[in-house]
Amino acid sequence: MSILHGKFLHGGDYNPDQWLDRPDILEEDVRQMKRAGVNVVSLGIFAWAALEPEEGKYDFSFLEERIQTLYENGIHTILATPSGARPMWMAFRYPEVLRVRAEGQKELMGERHNHCYTSPVYREKVWEMNRRLAEKFAGHPGVIAWHISNEYGGACWCEKCQEAFRGYLKQKYGSLEELNRQWWTAFWSHRYDCWEHVQAPSPLGESDTHGLNLDWRRFCSRQTADFCAWEKKALEAGGSSLPVTTNLMGFYDGLDYADFRDILELSSWDSYPEWHSGEKSDVQTAVEIACTADYMRCIQKDRKPFLLMESTPSATNWQRFSRLKRPRMHMLSSLQAVAHGADSVQYFQWRKGRGGSEKFHGAVLDHDATDDTRVFRDVAEVGSRLQGLEKICGSLVRPRAAILLDQENRWALEDSRGPRNDGIHYLETVKAHYGALWKLGIPADVISSDCSLEEYRLVIAPMLYLLKGDIAERLKAFVDGGGTLVGTYQTGLVNENDLCFEGRVPHGLTEVFGLYREEIDALWDGQCNHMVWNDREYVLTELCERIHPSSAAVLARYQEDFYAGEPVLTVNESGRGKAYYIAAHTGMDFLYDFYLETAPAAGAVPCMKAALPEGVTVTVRTGKETDYLFVQNWNPEDVAVTVEEKLTDFESGERIGAGDSLKLPGYSVRILERPAGSGNTEHFE
Ligand code: GLA
Ligand code: ZN
Repeated sequence: MSILHGKFLHGGDYNPDQWLDRPDILEEDVRQMKRAGVNVVSLGIFAWAALEPEEGKYDFSFLEERIQTLYENGIHTILATPSGARPMWMAFRYPEVLRVRAEGQKELMGERHNHCYTSPVYREKVWEMNRRLAEKFAGHPGVIAWHISNEYGGACWCEKCQEAFRGYLKQKYGSLEELNRQWWTAFWSHRYDCWEHVQAPSPLGESDTHGLNLDWRRFCSRQTADFCAWEKKALEAGGSSLPVTTNLMGFYDGLDYADFRDILELSSWDSYPEWHSGEKSDVQTAVEIACTADYMRCIQKDRKPFLLMESTPSATNWQRFSRLKRPRMHMLSSLQAVAHGADSVQYFQWRKGRGGSEKFHGAVLDHDATDDTRVFRDVAEVGSRLQGLEKICGSLVRPRAAILLDQENRWALEDSRGPRNDGIHYLETVKAHYGALWKLGIPADVISSDCSLEEYRLVIAPMLYLLKGDIAERLKAFVDGGGTLVGTYQTGLVNENDLCFEGRVPHGLTEVFGLYREEIDALWDGQCNHMVWNDREYVLTELCERIHPSSAAVLARYQEDFYAGEPVLTVNESGRGKAYYIAAHTGMDFLYDFYLETAPAAGAVPCMKAALPEGVTVTVRTGKETDYLFVQNWNPEDVAVTVEEKLTDFESGERIGAGDSLKLPGYSVRILERPAGSGNTEHFE
C-alpha cells in the first residue's frame, strides 16, 4: 500500500510563496496541475520567510488556503519543514545559526542548506516552527507526509559543533588514551594531552590523522541525522504521526545515509542524471542511476517502495551543459525509478520562478505558462500512464543479489594514502559490478555493511577495506550457510577507526577466501597485466594484488611481470557456500562473463528468461500474485528481445509466448506480467 491509497504519486516541488501577490497564477496552477495528471505537491520547502515573517509572528494562511484548495481538486500535499533556508531576521539576530568554515571563518547570511546543526537557537526555532505546522496541518486529510528540510549536507566548524564532536568522541572512546591509541597519534608527535585540544580536521590544521578525519565525517553525518530526528520529534510533539522523509542525494559523499535509516519511514531521492552527455552513453548513465536508485531504496529499513522526490521534467540549469531530454526519455527515465521500486515520479519544479538562480531550471510550466509545450505533454503522459499502473503500486523489489556500498568504507578508502592516490575508484568499482548484473537483467540491492545478508544468495563486496562491527563474521556465516560471496583486492585491511589490522589479511576472512594477501602493485594509468579465464584473455589495470591461496582453488593467473603465474582469481569452498576472490582490477568484459556464470549458479538469476541485447535491461517488482517486469531499452534505436517464457503485456494485454520477439522502440519501457513465482523470480509476499 502506498502513502496515497494505492496510487502512484505524480507531482513535485511547488512554491506558491513566490507568487503570493498573484492570485491569478495560484488559480491557474491548480487548473494546470489537473491537466498534467498531478496528484501531489511538495509544499513550503523554502517558505520560512513567508511562514514566520517576524520572529514569533506566524502566518500559515497561504499554506492553509493552498492545502485546502489543492485537496478539493484531488491534489495531496507532502508538507515541508522549512529548515532548508532561514529568514533574514534570524541570521542577523542570532548569528550562531550560521556556519563556521573549516578555516575558522564565520559565514554571512546567504544561500541555503547551511545552518549549524548544533546551534540551540536554530534547533529551538525549528522545533517551534515544526510543532506549529504539525498542530495545524497534520490532521488535514490533504497532507500525506512530511518532507523534512531539504537536501541536508555540509558541515559546521563552530565552537558548539567542535564541543559536540568532543562529546561524541568521549562517549565513543571512553578515555583520551584509547582515542590516542585508535588514532595512532604517536605518529608525528600528534598525541592529545587533553580533550580540549581535539579539533575538527582543517586545511589550516590537522588533516592527516585518518582516525580523526573518519570520526569527524561520522560525527557530521550523525549530527545531521540527529537534527533530522529532532525535526521529526517536533512534528510528533505537534501531534503528527504521518510518515516522514527527507530528500537524499544518491551517492552524495558528505553523509552516511545509513544514519537516517532508523529515522525515516520513507526514503526519497533527488535524481538528476546527465542524459545525452558528450562523455557517457545513456546506457552508462542508466546503469549509474539504476545503482543509485537501488542504494536509495535500501536506505529504507524495510526496503519497501520509496519515492523519487525530485527529477527535472526537461533540463537542469546547474549541470555543465543543460541538455534537453530527447523524445521518450522523460517517460523512460521516470519509469526507471518505478522499475526500481519508487512509488512516485516527482519533479523539481512545478513552475519556473521569474528570478533567483533557478529561473532557468526546467519546470513543468515555463515562463509562458502554457500547457502547449513538449515538456508539459511529456509530463502529462507520465501522469496518465502512472494511473494505468496502479496495480503495481506498493509491489516490492526483492533481489537475491546484494552489493555492499558502505559509506564509511568509502571515506576511509579514499583517505587511505595507499597504493593509488590518483583514483582508487571505489564507487566506480561498485558500479562496475552492479553494471555487469544490470546487463544480465539480474536485480540487486545496494546495501551498507550493517544490513542483514539473510535474504541473499550472492553478496558482492568490492574493496571492503574497512571492516566494521561483525561484518567479517557475518560474511563468513553467509558463505558457510550456502551463500556465494565475491570479494576483491583491498579487502579487510583496517578496523572501523582506520587502524591497520595486525596479522594476515583480509582480516577475519582469510579462512573464508582460503588465501592471504602479501602485497599490492599499483599500476599507472595506461599500464596493464592480463589473465586468462575460461580460455578468454582479460586486461587487468590499476591494482594487482599478490595473494597466496591456502585452500582456495586458482581459476586464473597473472600473465606478466615478476608475478606472472601467480593467482589472480580464486574460489574457495567454505561450509555450504563459496567465496570468490578477484585480486586485480578488471574491466566490464570480465565482470559480465564472470557473473554470467557465477550469479545464476549462486541463485541470483536474470529476472526474465531472454537474451538481452546491449543497452536493454529488466527489473522486477513483485506483487501479491503477480510479477511485473520492466523491460527497458536505453538505446536510441529500436530493438527486439527474444523472450523465452510466457508473459503478458500489462498495459495492452498482448500475450507473449516463448520464442516471441518483443519489440521495444528506442528509449522505451514495456511492462510485462506473469503469475508470481512462475518465472525466475521467487515469491516473497
Ligand atoms: C535540488 C534541490 C532543489 C533544486 C534542485 C535543482 O535537488 O533540492 O531545491 O535546487 O536541486 O536541480
Ligand atoms: Zn556549528
